[in-house]
Amino acid sequence: MVQRYVMAIDQGTTSTRCILFDARGRLVSVAQREHQQHFPRPGWVEHDAVEIWRNLGRVVPQALSDAGIEAGQVAALGIANQRETTVLWDRRTGVPVGRAIVWQDTRTDGMVDQLAREPGADRVRRLCGLPLATYFSAPRLRWQLEHTPGLRERAERGEVLFGTIETWLIWNLTGGPDGGVHVTDVTNASRTMLMNLRTLSWDDELLEFFDVPRVMLPEIRSSTEVYGTTSRVVPGIDIAAALGDQQAALFGQTCFAPGEAKCTYGTGSFLLLNTGTTPVLSTHGMLTTVGFRIGDEPAVYALEGSIAVTGSLVQWFRDGLGLISSAPEIETLARTVSDNGGCYIVPAFSGLFAPHWHSEARGVIAGLTSYITKGHLARAVLEATGWQTREVVEAMNADSGLALSTLRVDGGMTADNLLMQFVADVLDVPVVRPMVAETVSLGAAYAAGLSVGYWPDLEGLRRNWHRAAQWLPEMDLARREREYAQWRQAVALTFGWTR
Ligand code: G3P
Repeated sequence: MVQRYVMAIDQGTTSTRCILFDARGRLVSVAQREHQQHFPRPGWVEHDAVEIWRNLGRVVPQALSDAGIEAGQVAALGIANQRETTVLWDRRTGVPVGRAIVWQDTRTDGMVDQLAREPGADRVRRLCGLPLATYFSAPRLRWQLEHTPGLRERAERGEVLFGTIETWLIWNLTGGPDGGVHVTDVTNASRTMLMNLRTLSWDDELLEFFDVPRVMLPEIRSSTEVYGTTSRVVPGIDIAAALGDQQAALFGQTCFAPGEAKCTYGTGSFLLLNTGTTPVLSTHGMLTTVGFRIGDEPAVYALEGSIAVTGSLVQWFRDGLGLISSAPEIETLARTVSDNGGCYIVPAFSGLFAPHWHSEARGVIAGLTSYITKGHLARAVLEATGWQTREVVEAMNADSGLALSTLRVDGGMTADNLLMQFVADVLDVPVVRPMVAETVSLGAAYAAGLSVGYWPDLEGLRRNWHRAAQWLPEMDLARREREYAQWRQAVALTFGWTR
């Protein structure tokens, strides 16, 4: 019998990957391409949506040929994507209107401030589960409609389409200007600030508040259903799932039941806790978001603690400061010293996300003395991720009324043992990583496979989860609390900065 596989695309902030999985959830082949990051002004971050689409066109055939698999052996395709990044394009030509504006971009901080003072601002969070912040799509979409001459009129005439990245890719894969399907899934829609969390449809009040024409928005669909069949790149494959990448990781970690949580350490880091089929509104700076929706079943919600800058701080240390030449070297450099020497780095490059939601905050390096070496800085870079995780976990515990007892982790930064040990130390709970650390892709594959019956049910998927590594807390209480107090002092400094 011919073997069949499931294909996942993980379109992330820095790269596009195609991964093939077999029926036991094992990785069969991976192809990856990075795309360029554009920083045209301080605080602005852009991507070229056409470059991303072209990269997809390269990684898909490469993953198939590396594995020696024919397109006909692919049972389904699932897409996971960087969330909130906005793409606008011409419906007739498929040409993007300017570059995609990335979730890290802070150009809308003034607008967000102003929106917060407008009538109706107090209702936004209750309707969509998100605080007003530069992070989400709606302020950026409004910014584009206001700053691109003639765009609003074109959008109102139905000539311009909006999408997050999965929408852009699905539209192109299913035909582009020659009949592409214009859809999004509930998890991605829940990051726009335009979807009502309870009805799971675009909300008139939110559309009016952000002044966005409904006609440019995609149709909101479930996370697991067949949206269409590919007619480009590799024709004939059913596109059977789409999820925001962090929700995909929740799925890939098999956090299907209320109370189960994971944290993915990538460009940023994102801790999601499954809260079941009723949305829980946070009072401690967490987001309420859709975790996943399987077919016609009720949506499953999550509380999320989003940290904007973790892996991208290591990247900055490498590319911006040139203190290391590859990301893994940071661990070696950090191990040249036994502590941070009193130095703390708060990477508020995109303002501060959870639990602070301070769009205007900017980063600081605190505690500098001539004693500090690049080894101490390397430690402070890694520790920033640990302390930010602690802030999020404390807020999550306060919201849920439960104390997290173990943290399931995944993502590229989990290869750093020093960091993972530090996370266990500052949280004072065990940290565990599964065999397949590629949980974003795995989650997209699981969702697509479920959708077409390749995998029968969630229980079967749970059985694929195996622990590969564990870090147990070792730090003594006095040190942990002393250093955390210093970290908080450093965080407070980021708020006082004005440009
Ligand atoms: O919300 C932003 C998030 O989806 C980005 O994830 O993995 O591309 O950094 P990643």
